[in-house]
Amino acid sequence: MAQEKIVILGTGGTIAGQAQNSTQGVGYKAGQISVAGLLAAVPDLSQLAAGRTGAVLDALQIAQIDSKDMDWPVWRSLLQAVKAGLEDTATRALVITHGTDTLEETAWLLQAVLQPTKAVVLTCAMRPATSLQADGPQNLRDAVAVAAGDVPGVWVVAAGEVHAAREVLKVHPYRLNALRSYEGGPCAYVEESRVRWLGRAAVQYPGWTAARLEQLLACEELPWVEIVQSGSLQSARAVQALLAAGVQGLVVAGTGNGTIHQAMEQALLQARAQGVSVWYSTRCLEGQLVGLPVGQGVPAVQASSHEIAAHVIQVEAEGGLDAVLLPPSKARIAMMLQLACY
Ligand code: SIN
Repeated sequence: MAQEKIVILGTGGTIAGQAQNSTQGVGYKAGQISVAGLLAAVPDLSQLAAGRTGAVLDALQIAQIDSKDMDWPVWRSLLQAVKAGLEDTATRALVITHGTDTLEETAWLLQAVLQPTKAVVLTCAMRPATSLQADGPQNLRDAVAVAAGDVPGVWVVAAGEVHAAREVLKVHPYRLNALRSYEGGPCAYVEESRVRWLGRAAVQYPGWTAARLEQLLACEELPWVEIVQSGSLQSARAVQALLAAGVQGLVVAGTGNGTIHQAMEQALLQARAQGVSVWYSTRCLEGQLVGLPVGQGVPAVQASSHEIAAHVIQVEAEGGLDAVLLPPSKARIAMMLQLACY
């Protein structure tokens, strides 16, 4: 039987970032150090993996980017590499080094479309590898400890916490514990390389199939979906401009329970009338929409708004991705999948 391995995939990010000097915690360049270099910075990483599982570490560079620039070619390469690892009986688990800025989207995508039966663990850092306070090596060590535990699903490990792909959000631009599970807290803690699980499983999406994954991987690009936010003094202009430019879907980060400024609401109804998908989410940092989310104001508007809400609820009922219950960043990716593959 082939030697088992834990595969470490590098994509860049601050964890691979380099600054001009060790006191520089901002203004560095992300994605500079190779994944082999990241492994070399953790002296006992191979021993940790071997001691827990007998597996060796295998490193593969997928990209070296700042994750703010994540695009479909990199995502597709990453999806293909993770899929290959999941199908390879010699691969026990996978770890992905990634920038924090769009990690929540990549994590959600991997969980939604691969629904792994092995552990797939993303990790990251808030300080560059050259920093006095570099958090990447410890995060990588913790990620390997989680990977070695064989809990299936996509997990995010940072600052001693393990988050589920569906829940994790970046909530701070600077501090070391910048990631948070938006309700309910982390799924586990990593303490001196012991993983203490608190008992939640990764979310599965029954409507997603292997055929849909093949359809997705065959796409040269994904449908154009934008997030628009409603708030004080909102106008219809952003929605109108996007419609004129050919946008295919809109996720609305509504106020509170998904309410929309009346000036914007008509433009959204117009968008739907033109065949553009419109889904609602909330700009609130916690929770998800409850009941029929929009149009609490004028009754005539309420009726048509409920029609939009009904559409979203129908998407869920058909076993699709639960976009309406996701925060806007993930609902946008869910809509792209929906438009490309359903
Ligand atoms: C990035 O997302 O690639 C840069 C920022 C970070 O990793 O914290």
